[in-house]
Amino acid sequence: MQGQIDRILISQDRIAERVKELAGQITAEHSANGGEITIVPIMTGAMIFASDLIRQIPIAMKIGLMMVSSYPGRSMESRGSQMLNSQVGEIAGRHVLVLDDILDSGGTLNMVVPALREKGAASVKSCVLLRKDRATARAVRVDYVGFEIPDAFVVGYGLDYNDYYRNLPDIVTLKGQKP
Ligand code: IMP
Ligand code: MG
Repeated sequence: MQGQIDRILISQDRIAERVKELAGQITAEHSANGGEITIVPIMTGAMIFASDLIRQIPIAMKIGLMMVSSYPGRSMESRGSQMLNSQVGEIAGRHVLVLDDILDSGGTLNMVVPALREKGAASVKSCVLLRKDRATARAVRVDYVGFEIPDAFVVGYGLDYNDYYRNLPDIVTLKGQKP
C-alpha cells in the first residue's frame, strides 16, 4: 500500500512558512471581532493543519469538530460530501472559522458553511490550506487559501489515500495518476 509516492509538491518548510503567514492574517482580521472565535476543523484531513495553525493564533477560541467524508476508501474523486458527525458546541452569535485541508469539488464547504449559518453564527469564514486548479474549486467563496495547486491527487500533512499517508510531513503526489 505504501511506497507509491511520486514527488514532493510542497515541502514541510514551505508549509510552515505559509501557515505562519495565514495565522498572522487571521489573527489581525479577527482581533476586531472582540477577539473570540470558534474554529471548526473538518476532520480528519484538517487535523494537522489545524493543530499547527491554531497554536499561532493568540486570541480566545473554542474548537468545534465536524467529520465529513468525500473520498471514502480508495477513491481519488469526490463521491459527494457526507456529514458523519458534528460536535461544534453552541455556535449562535459566534464568529466561526472553518478549516479544511483542500478545496476540490467544493462539496464540503458548500455543505458545512450554510449548516453553521443555520445554527446562528454571527459570521462564518473559511480557510483551506490547498485549492486545486479546477473550475469547481474556483467557484467556491473562501476567505483564506494557503496554496494554489495543480488538479492532482495529493497526500500528506493530514491528507490521505485510503486513510494512509496523513502522517507525512510534506505534501506529495502519488504515482499512477492520470496526467
Ligand atoms: P471537496 O468537498 O470536493 O471540495 O473536497 C474536500 C475534501 O475532499 C477534503 O476535505 C479532502 O478530505 C478530500 N480531498 C479532496 N482532494 C483530495 C486530494 O487530492 N487528496 C486527499 N483528499 C482530498
Ligand atoms: Mg476532508
